[in-house]
Amino acid sequence: MRGNSAKPGTSGKALDSVEVKGTKLFRGELTPPPDKSLSHRAVFFSSLANGTGKVSNFLRAQDTESTMHAFRSLGVEIDDRGRELIIHGKGIHGLAEATDVIDCGNSGTTIRLLSGVLAGNPFFSVLTGDESLRGRPMARVIKPLTQMGALITARADNKYPPVAIKGGGLKPISYAMPMSSAQVKSSVLLAGLYAEGETVVSEPARSRDHTERMLPSFGADLKVDGLTVTLTGGKDLKPLDIIVPGDISSAAFFMVAALIVPGAEVMIRNVGINPTRTGIITVLERMGATVRKENIREVSGEPVADIYCKGTSGLRAVEVSGDIVPSLIDEFPILCIAAARAEGVTTIRGAEELRVKESDRILAMATELRKMGVEVHEFPDGLSITGSEHLRAAEVESHGDHRIAMSMAVAGLAADGVTTIQNASAVSISFPGFFEMIAGCSS
Ligand code: S3P
Repeated sequence: MRGNSAKPGTSGKALDSVEVKGTKLFRGELTPPPDKSLSHRAVFFSSLANGTGKVSNFLRAQDTESTMHAFRSLGVEIDDRGRELIIHGKGIHGLAEATDVIDCGNSGTTIRLLSGVLAGNPFFSVLTGDESLRGRPMARVIKPLTQMGALITARADNKYPPVAIKGGGLKPISYAMPMSSAQVKSSVLLAGLYAEGETVVSEPARSRDHTERMLPSFGADLKVDGLTVTLTGGKDLKPLDIIVPGDISSAAFFMVAALIVPGAEVMIRNVGINPTRTGIITVLERMGATVRKENIREVSGEPVADIYCKGTSGLRAVEVSGDIVPSLIDEFPILCIAAARAEGVTTIRGAEELRVKESDRILAMATELRKMGVEVHEFPDGLSITGSEHLRAAEVESHGDHRIAMSMAVAGLAADGVTTIQNASAVSISFPGFFEMIAGCSS
């Protein structure tokens, strides 16, 4: 593996590339980076608690640092000890107006959850982000937060960041979300902390439930009944020490690498296996993969396991659609790589949310896989991929999207020759050190 990463830590436009060679060997024992969703939430809830809490095994990556930066600019003191943070929470009513625009970088979780918090605060805030984030839909949170009583305006007829918020005086609502989204659900629930009475949110299929698990341990009055979550607002949060488990979304790249390189084998330690996140394991097993969960335990209210994966000759194509989609929403790019090596035609439908992620992931995967000689058909809500035994090494592009960069690097491991990933430093959005970890398993 060779790289000329000019500016690590830059998403999007940096002139950087990494080369990945096809390999006959992929073996190792590794620990993935801490979970991104849980790291964001640990900072959010600790900042809103009355008193000091600790976050251990916090993800150091651009996205989660955007959340740290946002709360610091709202007056929260955070002692930075690397993977450990000491957060001096201000209480839900203790945040101060930021003196500048808050830059949420590339992070949808930061801007959407923060909109919920700021909707409850009686001061003026402006949230923006990088080019990708400024193209991502905000109406999905602006609509319910406005119904609760916040004054919110945004670019392009209230569709996209920058978003300006003047919050306060919220009333509870009952909101049926048109799409399954943990970011929207969490945003409304956070605003609900500021509204006296019951805020009720329901979704068509279950999205990740980290907020529902973590917020009650901070003292929030929250109940889950099927697909409906009810939060009774007006109560204070108390501080808590949280340990963040490893990120299954990052582990997934190594699971698929092990499955598509013949003879490969990996042991991935300390992986969060919350059932709202394990759709990738279910689908890979349906494709005929061996994925073993060992040493199952619980860490800070989340199930965790070590995951053993062994190269399988003869992955089979699958059809993926319906309620399982939210449980592997971030894993579709890497699932496309498994599909490109499976026998038959894999079809993914009902995944139109992929069009509005860090990039249009349907378009990005179709474009990049075709460069490697794979037959791909695009649908508005998914794609079909005809698997092949042969992947052609190529020059591919990350589209400034961390998960596209990592997926194409894994494809490169199973290709004949050298694959070059352009704009590869996008990986530092969620997984700084990804290429080093890949190199460690393939040398
Ligand atoms: C996230 C929720 C998902 C996911 C994102 C992180 C979260 O987004 O794609 O990477 O932490 O709540 P949606 O809720 O918009 O589907």
